[in-house]
Amino acid sequence: MKEQLVEIQKEALAKVAEVETLKELQEIQVAFLGRKGSITTVLRGMGKLSAEERPVIGELANNVREEISGAIQGKQTVLEEAALEEQLQKEAIDVTLPSYPVKFGGPHILTSIIEDIEDLFIGLGFEVREGPEVETDYYNFEALNLPKGHPARDMQDTFYITNELLLRTHTSPVQARTMQAYKGQQPVRMICPGKVYRRDNDDATHSHQFNQIEGLYVDKNVRMSDLKGILTEFAKHMFGQDRDIRLRPSFFPFTEPSVEMDISCKVCNGKGCSVCKGTGWIEILGAGMVHPKVLEMAGYDTKVYSGFAFGMGPDRIAMLKYGIDDIRQFYTNDIRFLKQYHKA
Ligand code: PHE
Repeated sequence: MKEQLVEIQKEALAKVAEVETLKELQEIQVAFLGRKGSITTVLRGMGKLSAEERPVIGELANNVREEISGAIQGKQTVLEEAALEEQLQKEAIDVTLPSYPVKFGGPHILTSIIEDIEDLFIGLGFEVREGPEVETDYYNFEALNLPKGHPARDMQDTFYITNELLLRTHTSPVQARTMQAYKGQQPVRMICPGKVYRRDNDDATHSHQFNQIEGLYVDKNVRMSDLKGILTEFAKHMFGQDRDIRLRPSFFPFTEPSVEMDISCKVCNGKGCSVCKGTGWIEILGAGMVHPKVLEMAGYDTKVYSGFAFGMGPDRIAMLKYGIDDIRQFYTNDIRFLKQYHKA
């Protein structure tokens, strides 16, 4: 029995030394130390031993068991460390590899134009306001001196939602909203950028949705020359210091007198070319002195207050500034088009 145990120990230790996987190691543990393992099997014969031999064999069996299990433990640690090492090797990251190029986005060309115009007017003391795109008939038309049935309503093909609700056709309702918010008491200096909607068939120069920037200046003694001064500043900022402006008489129900503003053509410097259709001038916005009725409806005393207003289209401004010939380019979001205008 003694020899048997010694033999078992030799055999077990040899196997543990050879083993290469944790699974095999587990099998060895079961085969030698398990409930049906070889040591247990040998010890079943203990009953036949004499009383003197029993403790000797018992002690030997314990030693053998400890030796084997110690060897297994040791080997287990070695194998586990090797497995971990292998995994780390496999997962190692080569930090010297060049990475994928990171693509940066940029503001949409219209956003850049609008922010540029905002910056200019903020610098001139204007505040930036917003108004709802779903607007009431009252603010879009009536408060702007366009009562129901007024023929000038036809100038603006309107998307009606109900009889009283519509998609705003211009940013001018924000004039009325702002003056009302100021309760007819304080001077107003505001611009309002925003989307507007018209029932147009989309083509190179028309879009059913586009942008406008409204401007409104109300104070004591505001005159046409103030309008001209501010708009000249704007034209030079947008299109270059050597630009001239001219005002032509026009008509809007909410301004009197009304004007349209042209800038001198930057392509031919006013000489006349295909861009300005031979006139030397390019139409850029509508403006005028706020109609007394509009001021009165908003609660301003027209004996004390006067004002000017203007409305421009950033889409058109961007087209002129960059020579873009199709307004649909702004809304079809072809990245090849848009990224040309990302600022570095
Ligand atoms: N709301 C006018 C339009 O959409 C533009 C405008 C604004 C004209 C303010 C005069 C004053 O055509």
